[in-house]
Amino acid sequence: MSELVKYSVEDGIAIVTIDNPPVNALSPGVPDGIREAVLRAGSEAAVQAIVIIGAGRTFIAGADIREFGKITSGEKSREATTLHPLLAVLEGSPKPVVMAIHGTAFGGGLEIAQAGHYRVAVANAQVGQPEVKLGIIPGAAGTQRLPRLAGVAKAAEMCAFGDPIPAKAALEAGIVDRIIEGNLLAGAIAFAREVAAKPAPKTSERNEKLSEPCDFDALRAAARKRLRGQEAPIAAIDAVEAATKLPFAEGVRREAELFQQCLFSTQSKAMIHAFFGERTVQKIPGIGKDVELLPIRKAAIIGAGTMGGGIAMVYANAGIPVLLKETAQDALDRGLATIRRNYANSVAKGKMTQEAMDRTMARITPTLSFDGFGEADIIVEAVFENMALKKQIFAELDKIARPDAILATNTSTLDIDEIASATTRPGQVIGNHFFSPANVMKLLELVRGKATSDRVIATCMDLGKRLRKVAVLAGNCYGFIGNRMFAPYIREAMLLAEDGTPFELVDQTLYEFGMAMGPMAVCDLAGLDVNYRIRQEYKHLEVPGVRYPEVETMLAARGHYGQKTGRGWYLYEGTKNAGPNPEMSDIIAAYAPEKSLPQSRASRDEIIERTVYALINEGARLLKEGIAIRSVDIDIVYLNGYGFPVWRGGPMHYADTVGLARVAAKVREFHERFGYHWKPAPLLEQLAGQGSTFAAWSATR
Ligand code: 3HC
Ligand code: NAI
Repeated sequence: MSELVKYSVEDGIAIVTIDNPPVNALSPGVPDGIREAVLRAGSEAAVQAIVIIGAGRTFIAGADIREFGKITSGEKSREATTLHPLLAVLEGSPKPVVMAIHGTAFGGGLEIAQAGHYRVAVANAQVGQPEVKLGIIPGAAGTQRLPRLAGVAKAAEMCAFGDPIPAKAALEAGIVDRIIEGNLLAGAIAFAREVAAKPAPKTSERNEKLSEPCDFDALRAAARKRLRGQEAPIAAIDAVEAATKLPFAEGVRREAELFQQCLFSTQSKAMIHAFFGERTVQKIPGIGKDVELLPIRKAAIIGAGTMGGGIAMVYANAGIPVLLKETAQDALDRGLATIRRNYANSVAKGKMTQEAMDRTMARITPTLSFDGFGEADIIVEAVFENMALKKQIFAELDKIARPDAILATNTSTLDIDEIASATTRPGQVIGNHFFSPANVMKLLELVRGKATSDRVIATCMDLGKRLRKVAVLAGNCYGFIGNRMFAPYIREAMLLAEDGTPFELVDQTLYEFGMAMGPMAVCDLAGLDVNYRIRQEYKHLEVPGVRYPEVETMLAARGHYGQKTGRGWYLYEGTKNAGPNPEMSDIIAAYAPEKSLPQSRASRDEIIERTVYALINEGARLLKEGIAIRSVDIDIVYLNGYGFPVWRGGPMHYADTVGLARVAAKVREFHERFGYHWKPAPLLEQLAGQGSTFAAWSATR
């Protein structure tokens, strides 16, 4: 037997153990190993039934995702990786095959389980067809067998949205036959003995659930809304619908066609890039796994405003007790009331129980003093964006915090080194930049100062996972990765509006490109006063003679700050967008002739190029400066913090897909037309000239 699949026999039951750490993916050798083991069990007279189980932490987590790139690049044929020969042997086995599931039976793992005759699982196991999250659909008959086990509607939902379900729900749905309490292998063997003498039921022949009703069109509409722009969910629904109309073998052929279309799409390449990207960003060159992490058992937060309150929830949700400090009782009360309201909303929506809310709230201890801060393992400062105040607080913390405590700041723009200079231990200081609302947004930008120690970085990376965030390490500069790139993107959107493109068209076009919101709508949400204040503060950095957008500042100067005042680029009824603000159009109509700005309406392509290529050009600068370690780090920041569509893979992957030569040519054209802001980034020019990509360049770092 292969090293990847082990075979043994215990009292007439063959035990096939898949041992391909860390997640028992179906890498080359695994499917063949299982097939050989099942055939061997079939040929051994003493064997009455077969149990298939995973070694280590999980059953099979699915196909080996790394193999997909080899198929699309032509290095391997699809046939070389297909699971169908294995599925035929499993289902055709005259001796019953019992699948013993723990951890996750995902994708091809669940499809293999479906081809067995029975499935047993431990209570905390999960099963799912998450392929759509990679831009593909189940490709090993999952869209054909799952409806036969779980019913059409349940299968269509699982294949279209890709969310896993726990073992108990799988039992109720008919996917799992028994929940095993105690030892899984022992339970599976006992189950195998019970069924050994019975005829083995073939899932592909169980057609009774196929006539159950399913509103496929309603599901397509839901998928178009929830997973806007994605092709795979619709293909997955089509494939499940085929199961209701075609005999099994023909349904499998239809699934294969749809799978192939998805696999060769740019969307699946982008989403696979994002899958591996989320894991790559956790790896920091020069910081090995051997770096000993600091224990994080208690946290403390300073400032219970918008961010501090949200960050307190993040810690409490992760089970970490947290002190929350304010300067005055009324501010503290307001902060806590907001936290309580957020949790109460979750309870009202059924997302949380009252008991869980009470338990979580009890982890947050409000305070007006620094008492207890000396025991905190990490202290996160989230007070006003003011350098003098932050330095004063860090000097204070230096006196009261434990020597090995991490001192983190949530600043969105300020210099981490200057903040750290207020302490005698700059190695312990790091930026922990959460995004608003902190309890919802997944991104956590870690900002490394000159002196930040490897241990502090590694601990915060690990902590990010515990806090259920996607942590990305950035260097220290104005705006770090995310906001530094966002500034030129917003600038171009506004200049387009000033130059005669209706601002709602700019927003609509970028929304259709896949952004979660258009840029003007984002400004309204963040508050026009924020941009206004930044603009005033950094006015001295503006280059004389260079044009900067003005109209938003003009509106903000009139006291209109977006959603919070009910009036910004758009009008608002509560948080509901009630259409473009005519006052803004009037401001633009007056401003353009005053400045002699020629007016023209940009095409859809130009709107996208001027905004998204501005992101890319700045991203190229960040890469060259080492602010972002790799292009994928930028992509992950944009996918998790800025609403960039996952099916485009992030701005730098998108640039690689479009082709850097094309991007660079446009940037040069814009430089000629619009001047200063569009100076091509040297790295973009260099890679475009070499016919290379950001990803290839990053791989050499
Ligand atoms: N193929 C290749 N590598 C995989 C993998 C897979 N299916 N699943 C996980 N890995 C790798 C990760 O890249 C990571 O590698 P690294 O240590 O080098 O960074 C390592 O395994 C551990 O993964 P995680 O860090 O994600 O471990 P967790 O314990 O946090 O999560 C998991 C485990 C829930 C299984 C998660 O890894 C996961 O969701 N994996 C993807 C599952 C999936 O999408 N399966 C479907 C694949 S497509 C398919 O099966 C097509 C079929 O229909 C033909
Ligand atoms: P906020 O104004 O909502 O809250 C700041 C809070 O700090 C106030 O409640 C104030 O009373 C309190 N505070 C001030 N001095 C204090 C002190 N000495 N001790 C204890 N509490 C004190 O501000 P917000 O928006 O929460 O911002 C906080 C920080 O987070 C800033 O550095 C900001 O740049 C950053 N940030 C803000 C984001 C946002 O979208 N609001 C996003 C990411 C970062």
